[in-house]
Amino acid sequence: TRILFATSEVYPLVKTGGLADVSASLPEALCKLGYDCQILLPGYPAALEAARGAGSRRKTRFRYGQYDVALWQTRLPGTAVSLWLVDCPALFDRPGDSPYQNDDGEDWWDNAHRFHLFGRIGAMMALGQLGLSWQPDIVHCNDWQAGLIPVFLESAQHPPKSVFTIHNLAYQGLFSHETFRALSLPDFLWRMELLEFHGQLSFIKGGLVFSDAITTVSPGYAEEIQTPWFGYGLDGLLRHRSRHLHGILNGIDTRAWDPEQDRWLDFHYGPGHLKNKEQCKARLAQELKLEASGAPLFGFVGRLVEQKGLDWLLAVTVPLLERGCQFAILGSGQSHYQVRLQELARAWPGQLSLTLGYNEGLAHRITAGADLFLMPSRFEPCGLNQMYSLRYGTVPVVHGVGGLNDTVFDPSEVTADQANGFVFREPTPDALFQAVERALQTLGTRKTWRRLQENGMSADYSWKQRARDYATLYQNLLTGNGRIHD
Ligand code: ADP
Ligand code: GLC
Repeated sequence: TRILFATSEVYPLVKTGGLADVSASLPEALCKLGYDCQILLPGYPAALEAARGAGSRRKTRFRYGQYDVALWQTRLPGTAVSLWLVDCPALFDRPGDSPYQNDDGEDWWDNAHRFHLFGRIGAMMALGQLGLSWQPDIVHCNDWQAGLIPVFLESAQHPPKSVFTIHNLAYQGLFSHETFRALSLPDFLWRMELLEFHGQLSFIKGGLVFSDAITTVSPGYAEEIQTPWFGYGLDGLLRHRSRHLHGILNGIDTRAWDPEQDRWLDFHYGPGHLKNKEQCKARLAQELKLEASGAPLFGFVGRLVEQKGLDWLLAVTVPLLERGCQFAILGSGQSHYQVRLQELARAWPGQLSLTLGYNEGLAHRITAGADLFLMPSRFEPCGLNQMYSLRYGTVPVVHGVGGLNDTVFDPSEVTADQANGFVFREPTPDALFQAVERALQTLGTRKTWRRLQENGMSADYSWKQRARDYATLYQNLLTGNGRIHD
């Protein structure tokens, strides 16, 4: 079975969040299961450059409307997975590291045009219109950037099956009616049952309305997005398609995230032998100039945006600092959060360390060196960091939503052999604070703490089973099971 996996990010070529990790590790896992899964990515400069280094071939070159387009085929670095790049300099040859924004953090003015073209080429490739020798049975589209592919497949004679995965419903790809016209999309699509959403063009609706199956990245989030609170106005549509909506938990790259052999760590450890975790903490404290006081160390790694519960985190930080707790924070994002965190770092030197920017190695060292990992997300489709921290014996404190609720289990709610972290349920800073207090109390009870760590470390977070769930879905689609549009 051949799968075209269309995505706007893939690690290590271009990454703003977990989508990139999943877009690298899921296709690889599917290939290991015997699927011929190939990735389609816009030809950003960094990707094209890596492709040139890794040996790539130009498979075709043509004109699409006003654009010169070429398709390059290469391999995803470090893997055997085939990667196709949509090379269109006019749209994708842009400076900076972000696939979506300029260096001032503003969206590119022509993002609709950029991902419209990406969708067009994806569909043409899937329909065998580009004269390539390879054609997929299934097109697996990810997030709004790939949302138009199922739309373009719809009118074809014998289209491949399509799957659309929601990694984050909060990002919908909304554009004006003028943009809709500028893209020359057929008029009939401008209906609320199709691409129109409150007077705007919605790319994500393309995926939600036209795909044969919809998935999202945890069972919990699959339920949540069918309610108004988490549904961002799309809950009605998702309820309507609920028979075709599946929650499949993300896996993690268990080679890159393995405390036994992590290349970013000087000391290694694992289940049953945690001794070196203390060395990791000491080394991290040294690196970040935190006092060697033996105080509890909280880690946070992530985008500094409202989704991640930054305001709740900020609300509990000072009281915890006053008690002597320490923080290792790594992230980048909205400037008002950055400014507030910088103030705290200045006011509490030796206790709160802030690193702004993207830093792969430090992310690993915080995950290993911290005692507790904070993820007070307001919503979290899946979340990878809690799984990384569980695997590293770093006990997570999380808001009980989405994938966090599916992976972190609180001792007050489950048996001692299942508990692996702390979960708060009320969406308030007080609830977060109480969960942290319970965690700190437990940290004082060595045996119970060790049990939590071991439970977290010994669970299976790999793609092995989870990729099989996608495989089952693909097979069902190909045999006609669940194929029918509602
Ligand atoms: P999201 O996709 O919503 O940002 P996830 O938890 O799914 O959240 O994935 C985030 C990924 O990005 C993780 O691999 C995390 O380690 C990584 N990450 C986020 N911010 C940073 C940063 N500043 N430096 C290094 N890695 C980061
Ligand atoms: C999104 C979500 C995150 C999820 C990731 C990968 O960025 O915010 O929760 O883990 O996609 O699916």
